Amino acid sequence: MDCTVSLVLDPTARNRPAEEAALHASGPAALVDILGVTAWSVSDPVLLKSLLNDPRVSKDPRRHWPAFINGEIQQKWPLALWVAVSNMFTAHGQAHDRLRRLVSRAFTARATAAMVPRIEQITTRLLNRMARTQPGEIVELRETLAFPLPIQVIADFMGLAEETWPRLRTVADGIFDTTLTHQEADANSAAMYTILTSLVEAKRSTPGPDITSALINVRDDEGDGSRLTEQELLDTLLLIITAGYETTVNLLDNATTALLTHPDQLAHVRSGRTDWDAVIEETLRYASPVTHLPLRYAVEDLPLTDTIVIRQGEPILASYGAANRHPDLHGATAGQFDILRANQQHLAFGHGPHFCLGAPLARAEARAAIPALFDRFPDLALAVAAEDLEPVASLIVRGHRTLPVRLRPAA
Ligand code: HEM
Repeated sequence: MDCTVSLVLDPTARNRPAEEAALHASGPAALVDILGVTAWSVSDPVLLKSLLNDPRVSKDPRRHWPAFINGEIQQKWPLALWVAVSNMFTAHGQAHDRLRRLVSRAFTARATAAMVPRIEQITTRLLNRMARTQPGEIVELRETLAFPLPIQVIADFMGLAEETWPRLRTVADGIFDTTLTHQEADANSAAMYTILTSLVEAKRSTPGPDITSALINVRDDEGDGSRLTEQELLDTLLLIITAGYETTVNLLDNATTALLTHPDQLAHVRSGRTDWDAVIEETLRYASPVTHLPLRYAVEDLPLTDTIVIRQGEPILASYGAANRHPDLHGATAGQFDILRANQQHLAFGHGPHFCLGAPLARAEARAAIPALFDRFPDLALAVAAEDLEPVASLIVRGHRTLPVRLRPAA
């Protein structure tokens, strides 16, 4: 691999606009350093879309990434868990079809529509609780709404007892924290497996009306009747819990932040010039909850342009955040939050065979929470200057460490 790295991705994500501009300037695909691993970051939306749908691009490191096959990655890389799991996220071709089919029934548009009344009920309960605070009091919106809504939804879905949530949350946060050392990340992964193993034990002895119990017994009716192996079971639970929760927290955070820092845009939706769906889609584009997604691998040499060839076995990073703000797709205003823009296209949920299974659920949660929050608290305002909001320390997800707001002005 030609190791001329054009950018070292910042694990603390302190200056995303500068990083995105550097990626755009480096061409459709550029070699970057991601925590010590060199990968092709693809930020050109047209190229990214075609690679995401290309059978010559795999997500299976066991078959297609030499550095993983020889054990190097597992020994040193803090993001090893992201590629080492055995579930649909890291499967390719038919193996992917099998693992995805076993759970996809739970995520159809119909299954999600059936969850909407419950999502609305949880939202109302959380807003009622928030309404009990004093006028002028500072409320941490991630703590009071953005975290509890998705965790409650996923907990219902998976059958997670409430007493497990705080630990689960700390460990799930650790999976997205790209400032951990390799040892810290390993210890965090071990803690996650302890939680998942106890969950499976509890559901084996007392099954419930939840996905965990269903996955324990699932059989591949359309395939060879196979079951998930124990590792696939644990890793599928890990995927649904982490993918289903951390990303949605950040969508709720980013939509609220974008509206509070762009009052002109909030006015457009309040006046009925556009709708809340436009707010949610533009948030997904402008402040994509998933910014860089590790990793994919070239199954064979991929000549991309006259000068760029991704060689067989080289890793590829889907740089969704930068692609969604690419000037080729959204012109000179690509970096602006504009809910009236005619072209709201984005790749925030991915594309192709690995397209996000939970996209309808994430959208349903945002559609329930964001309008209700702004209707209930018309004077909602940030309690700190926008530039003092600190990013979550992650190059994988985009959100804020805390989101302090005032629901009502001081009396
Ligand atoms: C705003 C919220 C969300 C965002 C931005 C998001 C984003 C994504 C993205 C970009 C991918 C593609 C990964 C790739 O490139 O291979 C993905 C995959 C996935 N997402 Fe989501 N997601 C969200 C919410 C959810 C929810 C709520 C769930 C489930 C409860 C979920 C479950 C999954 C699963 C299972 C996959 C793997 C699909 C596969 O590999 O075939 N996601 N998500």
